[in-house]
Amino acid sequence: MAIDLAVVPVAGQGTRLLPSTKSQPKEMLPVGRKPVVQYVVEELANSGIGRLMFITGPGKASIENHFDTNWELITFLRETGREELLEELDFERQSLEYFYTRQRRQLGLGHAVLCARPLVGDQPFVVALGDSIIGVNAQSNIVARMVERFEADGADVVVAFEEVPREEVVRYGIARPADGEPGDVFELTDLVEKPSIDEAPSQLAVAARYVLSPRIFDALESTEPGKGGEIQLTDAIRRVLADGGRGVGIRLKSSERRFDIGNFGSYFRAFTEFALADPRYGEELRAFVRQRVEPAGDGDAGCS
Ligand code: UTP
Repeated sequence: MAIDLAVVPVAGQGTRLLPSTKSQPKEMLPVGRKPVVQYVVEELANSGIGRLMFITGPGKASIENHFDTNWELITFLRETGREELLEELDFERQSLEYFYTRQRRQLGLGHAVLCARPLVGDQPFVVALGDSIIGVNAQSNIVARMVERFEADGADVVVAFEEVPREEVVRYGIARPADGEPGDVFELTDLVEKPSIDEAPSQLAVAARYVLSPRIFDALESTEPGKGGEIQLTDAIRRVLADGGRGVGIRLKSSERRFDIGNFGSYFRAFTEFALADPRYGEELRAFVRQRVEPAGDGDAGCS
């Protein structure tokens, strides 16, 4: 049976985005017109996911509210003659089943995934990080391609990767492909967390989407907390691979850049790119930005 269950961890504290995330989830921050997590859900729905489990935590209720049908708002829009705005709420009607469970203590991404065990049970599943969009406006079917490989190759772990400049490997989990130059799909033998530039086995960085066999749960149970006391998903994947599990890596296409909004630098870049691409507001914004950043005719920089 095709994999149709995705786990979306959204329980992290988002400390790198304080104060914005003090009382609202980072996954609800807007990128262009939509909150980040809406792009993630739309991408998953377009890739054939039918059941979606959010791993939530304290202060994350607005995520549940966002995906619920808001009848009061619908009635209000109808009664006030603004029916044209109803299409902005179309995403509420996606044929997805939602499940929610809470991660009571923020013990890391691996621990968040482990919280899904009672629902997932003994079936393979997708993990999609709730703070990362793949492709401008989430135009990506990476999860569908990963599920296909998982099933065709009898894999235990399929991980999406994005090629990053060599000097940036120090910030990511990096793939160790089997011998040779890795193609678009390659055999994954190990992951190396934040290697030095000299020791990096490739420039392929883990990119927020995984397909995992239920073997991952036993590996997570026996994974010791690592850096910052957190249980890392990467460590458990390494354990599955070291125990003989089959790993496959898939590269994102060039049109499928990963937008991680975990820090202000990458959040600003994501917002700017999506806003500039907006069909209604993009053109006006481009003119505004040009005016602000290009030197004015009198030699005075427009953006002081
Ligand atoms: P991050 O690794 O960015 O961690 O999470 P974080 O805790 O949210 O952010 P900082 O480091 O404090 O700024 C990647 C994804 O995993 C989820 C997050 O919600 C995010 O979608 N996550 C992380 C959990 O669900 N639980 C955790 O304990 C940690």
